[in-house]
Amino acid sequence: MSDSSRDTVEGAGWGTAERGAYRQLMPGRVEKLSWLDPRTLWAARNGVVASWFGDPTGRTRSRWVAARAAAGAPADKVIRRADPDRFSFMVIGDTGEGDDSQYAVVPGFLKVGQDAAFAVIASDVIYPVGSTDDYGTKFFRPYQDYPAPIYAIPGNHDWYEDLGGFMRVFCGDAPPLPPEPKPRSLSRAWWRALLWRRPRPADEQRLTEARALRSAPAQQAVQPGPYWAIDAGPIRIIGIDTGLLGTIDAEQGAWLREVSQGPRPKILITGSPLYVDGEHHPCAIEGGGTVDDIVPDPAHHYVAAIGGDIHNYQRYPVDVDGRTIQYVVSGGGGAFMHATHTIAPVSVANVTEQDFRCYPRRGDSLAFYSRLYGRRLRLRRFFTLTEVEATAVVAERLGIPPTRTQSSPVRVTRRIRLVASLLGAGRRPDRPSRIRFPVRKIYTQLFSPSSATYSPPFFKSFLRLDVTPEAVRLRCFAATGNRAQELQPPVEDEVTIPLR
Ligand SMILES: [Fe+2]
Repeated sequence: MSDSSRDTVEGAGWGTAERGAYRQLMPGRVEKLSWLDPRTLWAARNGVVASWFGDPTGRTRSRWVAARAAAGAPADKVIRRADPDRFSFMVIGDTGEGDDSQYAVVPGFLKVGQDAAFAVIASDVIYPVGSTDDYGTKFFRPYQDYPAPIYAIPGNHDWYEDLGGFMRVFCGDAPPLPPEPKPRSLSRAWWRALLWRRPRPADEQRLTEARALRSAPAQQAVQPGPYWAIDAGPIRIIGIDTGLLGTIDAEQGAWLREVSQGPRPKILITGSPLYVDGEHHPCAIEGGGTVDDIVPDPAHHYVAAIGGDIHNYQRYPVDVDGRTIQYVVSGGGGAFMHATHTIAPVSVANVTEQDFRCYPRRGDSLAFYSRLYGRRLRLRRFFTLTEVEATAVVAERLGIPPTRTQSSPVRVTRRIRLVASLLGAGRRPDRPSRIRFPVRKIYTQLFSPSSATYSPPFFKSFLRLDVTPEAVRLRCFAATGNRAQELQPPVEDEVTIPLR
């Protein structure tokens, strides 16, 4: 077993390590996705348009599901696999930017996942807008050597072109939906239709060539729709589609209640994590109730709920009437890293800092962002914190034990404290900070930069789950972009979930 970021600085990927071999997997020319480019922002406008003029996702999703049912997909949307009692599967979230940090995950993923029965992509398969044309470089090429089927649930980005690309690739080559009747002039729906980005016609030859990369019979997977259940060995895995705005429609909600019945142990996979960044987000169901009413219900036998969307790893073991449900964030599978050092000491649903786990650990997250800002703003000497300094200042400001046992004590200077404060470490609700640089979600995407500023360690991760009739072992593996961790991906977190 190789060192993880919990053990050593080298295990975290810091230092002058040999760069990974992943670059040989990348296409010769990588179109760099820039979230600063107004064209990218304009292309990804449907989320904003939906929040202004009403969200049409539920209706569009119903139409897709009806089209799949008409094409012969099973009405209960259950994929019945013939896996033995003991099998493994992989989960990888928020994969598709098609750049270094996506490809850097691939060698370790192939190594750890070579004998797994299948993989599930937990949301945001394709950035920025889920286009069919992007599936070559962001899905088929990176995972061409993954020998088993890959299932997926869509994230908000996959919905920016009405899910057309996702439906073609994962749902039996579903043809585009027929156009809808024109809405009444000047109604909300009319305004929405005016501003809405519509799917572009796919480049068919490009798609055919891309598909050839994953054409082996053992790699094929056909889903009944964007949400589904998989019966595999002793468990049921349920994937839900939380659309553009992180909610689910009434029809899907009724289905979820239905497939959640019964004694079979269950694992939920969702694009909207239920616990994230120290907060509870129960995920509303249209017409009433929440997804997190369904998950803890003892009649449903859920043991874990895994969500993508936020690009790091977090785990919250929540006690529900004497049972523990593992709530996991696993969105670190490729796209740009979201900070963990901005997460205040955890206290939610009786989960405290002692039980909470995350990757990257907070000190490494702060060191990563200090370097990024130093390079971006050309103020390296001011901003850059060594991983030892970052770890020490995070421990001081958050009142948590240091990430790694420090070999030599470090003096936390005023500069170190100032940088930590500017980058949002140790923000306390009772002491709102004055100035803070953006380090989370959309802003990190705005800063999501050229490879000149974004280099290893990338702090990416993926999951492997080993299932037996007695227990599920869940492990989070790291990908740093360095050769050492490609050859032996370190385990950053591990938990065994009893099934009886
Ligand atoms: Fe994402």
